[in-house]
Amino acid sequence: MKKIHLVVGARPNFMKMAPLYDEFSKYKDEFNVKLIHTGQHYDERMSDFFFQDLGMPKPDVYLGVGSGSHGQQTARIMERYEETLLADKPDLVIVAGDVNSTAACAIDAVKLHIPVAHLEAGLRSFDRTMPEEINRLITDSIADMLLIPSLDAEQHLLKEGIEPHKIHFVGNIMIDSLNNYKDRAAKSQIKQEIGIGEEEYCLITLHRPANVDNFEGLNTILNAFAEISKNIKLVFPIHPRTRKQLANLGLTDMVNDMENLILIEPAGYYDFMKLQMDAKFVLTDSGGIQEETTWFGIPCLTIRPNTERPITVTEGTNQLVELNTETIIKAVNKILAGDVKKGTIPKYWDGKTAKRIVQLFR
Ligand code: UD1
Repeated sequence: MKKIHLVVGARPNFMKMAPLYDEFSKYKDEFNVKLIHTGQHYDERMSDFFFQDLGMPKPDVYLGVGSGSHGQQTARIMERYEETLLADKPDLVIVAGDVNSTAACAIDAVKLHIPVAHLEAGLRSFDRTMPEEINRLITDSIADMLLIPSLDAEQHLLKEGIEPHKIHFVGNIMIDSLNNYKDRAAKSQIKQEIGIGEEEYCLITLHRPANVDNFEGLNTILNAFAEISKNIKLVFPIHPRTRKQLANLGLTDMVNDMENLILIEPAGYYDFMKLQMDAKFVLTDSGGIQEETTWFGIPCLTIRPNTERPITVTEGTNQLVELNTETIIKAVNKILAGDVKKGTIPKYWDGKTAKRIVQLFR
């Protein structure tokens, strides 16, 4: 019996591990799978609601690390997860994505000579000012198995000297969750709950440090929102980091004063999927949402200078927009005038990624 730890920590990890947990559970006589939650995200709306929506059981181990500076958070995760590893001695640890929990738990395991598989390996923005890029580089350079979502990832890893036999093209696991839950999401009542009828709207998410942690960035984006909201309703489920920064930077009133902007709490998985499916377009700085909109065929404007998911631009509906009020407004006006980017769905974004992964371990 193979003992496996599936590590989650922050919101974007949950929809990646849920399908894998389900798939492993089909082979109970072969795998003993434990769900480890570091507690990097701990708010009900950032964590518990996702476990419920995605049908995941309560974590077997909850490390409760909470928020802090990068050093504090990473150190706390490493200290606590090492204890779990020493006590439980798994045969394999699977980490996902690019958050602090990913890199911290990978380091712990590798140093105890426990094999690590990295799910969503090989993505690169080539922007080392992003904490996620550092987490990707660290995790990929020490992981024993690199499970990649798209073929561009393979090129990055080979260039960094990763041995080819460690790389496995399994596809995009997030699409497994979208595929599994799209029908249930279609029935979500979120639009009625927040007072959206048949009218068109733009869905917004924002949380990147480069956009929200300084006055200039956040003000630039809010000025664009003020203008855009004259022509279309904006729905904005706000990330706790962004809410905190609005207050710190004295910008809360500016948001509250926009009549056509509906500010809501972070949405659950079904509700957010429903809001995406029905949106005229999405304005974001998220990583995962660039992929989800490509799969849904919804136009996406990403306020970032680069992306670790270029396939969403070359093949999908995504477009990068500079952090500049006029540029953002222009890109939105183009969409409102009917000039929308059509896309196709990349290879292996087919809902079968969890199956391909589990077969690798049998
Ligand atoms: C983290 C990830 C980012 C991912 C994002 C998704 C890293 C380096 N960043 O960013 O890649 O895209 O999650 O959301 O791992 N907070 C709460 N409640 C929570 C979680 C956070 O209030 O449940 C607030 C705290 O004020 C905290 C801040 O948000 O200090 C930032 O949280 P943190 O986990 O450090 O990073 P995120 O911005 O969420």
